[in-house]
Amino acid sequence: MAEFASNFWSLWVIGLTLLSLAALVWLLFSVYFSKHKEERGVVWDETLREGAHPPPMWWFWLLLAVLVFSLGYLALFPGLGNYPGALGWSQHSRLVKSERDFARAYGEARARWANAELSELSADPDAMRSAARVYQNYCAACHGRDARGGARMFPNLRDFEWQWGGGEAEILHSLREGRRAAMPAWGEVLGEEGVNAVAAYVLALSGGAADNPRYARGREIYAQFCVSCHGAAGGGNPQIGAPNLANDAWLYGRSASAVRASIKEGRNGEMPAWKTRLDETQIRLLAAWLLSGAETK
Ligand code: HEC
Ligand code: HEC
Repeated sequence: MAEFASNFWSLWVIGLTLLSLAALVWLLFSVYFSKHKEERGVVWDETLREGAHPPPMWWFWLLLAVLVFSLGYLALFPGLGNYPGALGWSQHSRLVKSERDFARAYGEARARWANAELSELSADPDAMRSAARVYQNYCAACHGRDARGGARMFPNLRDFEWQWGGGEAEILHSLREGRRAAMPAWGEVLGEEGVNAVAAYVLALSGGAADNPRYARGREIYAQFCVSCHGAAGGGNPQIGAPNLANDAWLYGRSASAVRASIKEGRNGEMPAWKTRLDETQIRLLAAWLLSGAETK
């Protein structure tokens, strides 16, 4: 309680605290050891008499013990105004101690990890357990506790399909700088019919029916507007985060209506940058963990 600006308030709090403790002691003794016991037991009416039984004695000892404990506590710990307590305990000293404990427990391992190759980190079970913990703290809210994405727009991180590339450098870049995808909206350019046609074509790329009557028109549109980013066979382009449209991994869902919505309205998935929130060792641990398959246990 060192934050009282003036001594007056500190003394005020000390005074009030001690006064109320003294008042409680007085109350306790006056109930149990009153000289006017005989006044109790007055008969008010034939069978109506005031009870003469004092509360049980064990209450007395219990309350006395609580009062003694309070005094002991106030002597040892901060609680009386600015008085710091005989033990000198404070939240700050606790924080300093927990930081020291953390450095003692992890400092050596972190120094080792900071200079290790990602492949060495992937092979170190302690490092991978640490990475999984960092993941649960910072990433699970979006990518899921099991790192399989799932909810719309958060990619599965365990399927070895990388929208932005799966090399060490690309994954480290995704984590440090974040990613922002720019899929333009095509509704105005293509109109409802055009969107439906190219959606039919896109679904056929990943194994859907190719005999859809819109397919031929869709293929023309795709060749004209989509190839530049998604590639002739729909394989995608990791440099701009254009996903593979020919596989079965879908960021926004595999249904025809989800695919049509992606094309009509465009998509701008955004992965936050972590270099300001995590240190480089944590980022390298996470990258190694992702490359090794992101085991969450
Ligand atoms: C606020 C939600 C959010 C959080 C938190 C988040 N991400 Fe992401 N992440 C995304 C989104 C959305 C994308 C997809 C971006 C896009 O559409 O291109 C993504 C993409 C990625 C990618 C690229 C995937 C690929 O296929 O190329 C990686 C790797 C990744 N996240 C890892 C992580 C890690 C590790 C963390 C924790 C440090 C994390 N993310 C935290 C939302 C999040
Ligand atoms: C400028 C490059 C670019 C062009 C051109 C482009 N796309 Fe995309 N497309 C992207 C990017 C980047 C994403 C990823 C969006 C995200 O992560 O939020 C994407 C996502 C998609 C998706 C969602 C995939 C999923 O996994 O859910 C579909 C479907 C799609 N595009 C179809 C098309 C079609 C059809 C065309 C042509 C009419 C087209 N795109 C043109 C860049 C492009």
